[in-house]
Amino acid sequence: MRYILALDAGTTSVRAIVFDHEGQICAVAQEEIRQIFPQPGWVEHDPQEIWLTQVVVAVEALDRAHIRPYDVVGAGIANQRETTIVWDRETGNPVYNAIVWQDRRTAGMCDELRAAGHDGTIQKLTGLILDPYFSATKIAWILDHIPGARARAEAGKLICGTVETWLIWKLTGGKKVHVTDVSNASRTMLFNLHTGVWDKDLLKLFRIPENMLPTVRSSSEVYGEIATPGLAHIALAGAAGDQQAALFGQLCVQPGLAKNTYGTGCFLLQNIGTKPVASTQRLLTTVAWKIGKKQEFALEGSVFVGGAIMQWLRDGLQLVRSAQEADMLAASVPDSGGVVFVPAFTGLGAPHWDPYARGLIIGLTRDTRAAHIARAALEGVAFQVADLIDAMHADTGKHLKELRVDGGAARSEPMMQFQADLLGVPVVRPAVVETTALGAAYFAGLAVGFWQNTAAIATQWQIEKVFEPTMSRTRVAELRGRWNEALGRTKNWEP
Ligand code: G3P
Repeated sequence: MRYILALDAGTTSVRAIVFDHEGQICAVAQEEIRQIFPQPGWVEHDPQEIWLTQVVVAVEALDRAHIRPYDVVGAGIANQRETTIVWDRETGNPVYNAIVWQDRRTAGMCDELRAAGHDGTIQKLTGLILDPYFSATKIAWILDHIPGARARAEAGKLICGTVETWLIWKLTGGKKVHVTDVSNASRTMLFNLHTGVWDKDLLKLFRIPENMLPTVRSSSEVYGEIATPGLAHIALAGAAGDQQAALFGQLCVQPGLAKNTYGTGCFLLQNIGTKPVASTQRLLTTVAWKIGKKQEFALEGSVFVGGAIMQWLRDGLQLVRSAQEADMLAASVPDSGGVVFVPAFTGLGAPHWDPYARGLIIGLTRDTRAAHIARAALEGVAFQVADLIDAMHADTGKHLKELRVDGGAARSEPMMQFQADLLGVPVVRPAVVETTALGAAYFAGLAVGFWQNTAAIATQWQIEKVFEPTMSRTRVAELRGRWNEALGRTKNWEP
């Protein structure tokens, strides 16, 4: 038997999953990573911790599957996107923590660029909305704030990358493999969607030396061999942003097919084919993947706090001890008792794009119990996804027939049922809910000939459960009205 190893470097945890030829999970290992919050609105990770944890879980997954590196024909990476690391070309040491995609510290820089009228051009070239979410302003911040960094970068001594670039660099053991895949490149705000290369005007605008950037490669090809003990000689053969990987893992390989991943955030992506069509609804146009010569694009809406709400209920509010307990608590009441919870902890993503919005819980009464707050928190995630789907309808003119769902929080029964109720269409959960890792495995497996082509894996997608809508449309309209009111009150809050 031969296997594929998927490395899923997410925002809250790092995982490794071993898949067999049928796309079935043989073993999983997972570890949470530390979230560092140096100031309100700032979010960082320790790059060394990301890398070490990734290695530990990969070795553990192989161990749990009772296999050796020799049995693995290839490894694929799916990673939290946009998160930015700058490191020394010679020593491999990061000059600063990873600045995470959720981090809002560069909101002021974005305001200045907007005031100078650059937002339209940026959207035209990159398909992205000017926002601190993307990598460009994060790289610039590091160069501006770490003593000596700009001079070292200009002298060619520093390089940068998103998490897959960092992992490939580390895993290939200092062989100086400095690459990114095109789906991750398209999240930096430096990559021109139309020419397919780093854009010189944007590099100038953000004051980033081009020699810091990795070489852009496809999502499915051999980048190098792993040199790390315990994993040595496995071919690193695929990489993609985790959301694009999930779109592929859900087999949304035809234009019009869409999925939503309930990870740390929520990410709704719809395959739009081989042309990068611009959004009129403040959604993003992004590269889905490139396999061989064929590059496909997606329309995307992102919600910044999705499944992370569970973590906040557990660690922030200390209301529950686990995500499962949050779920049970939410399911113990029929509704939120009039409580509305807008989890805008790190601003609002699409279609609002307000980095200054902050979270809010409203509608509290003497009757309110912890269960109502837990339920309102889960509902807050589903409301945000419903808003994204409305924006996508407006852009494409087509109504979704169903929503394919995945990610850790898609296991939440009350959240999925409420999602189907809000949308009025079935919510479909596949048997393998780890579609992000599966997508990464597919990219790697296609590169090394483990699977011949997309058709060979198409039959692997199986449904586990369908959530049918049951709520009346009048009730939905009422609830969404209250939600919109609460949402309006969160906007532009942080001075
Ligand atoms: O764009 C950020 C996204 O890639 C993070 O995904 O799964 O870590 O929430 P996740």
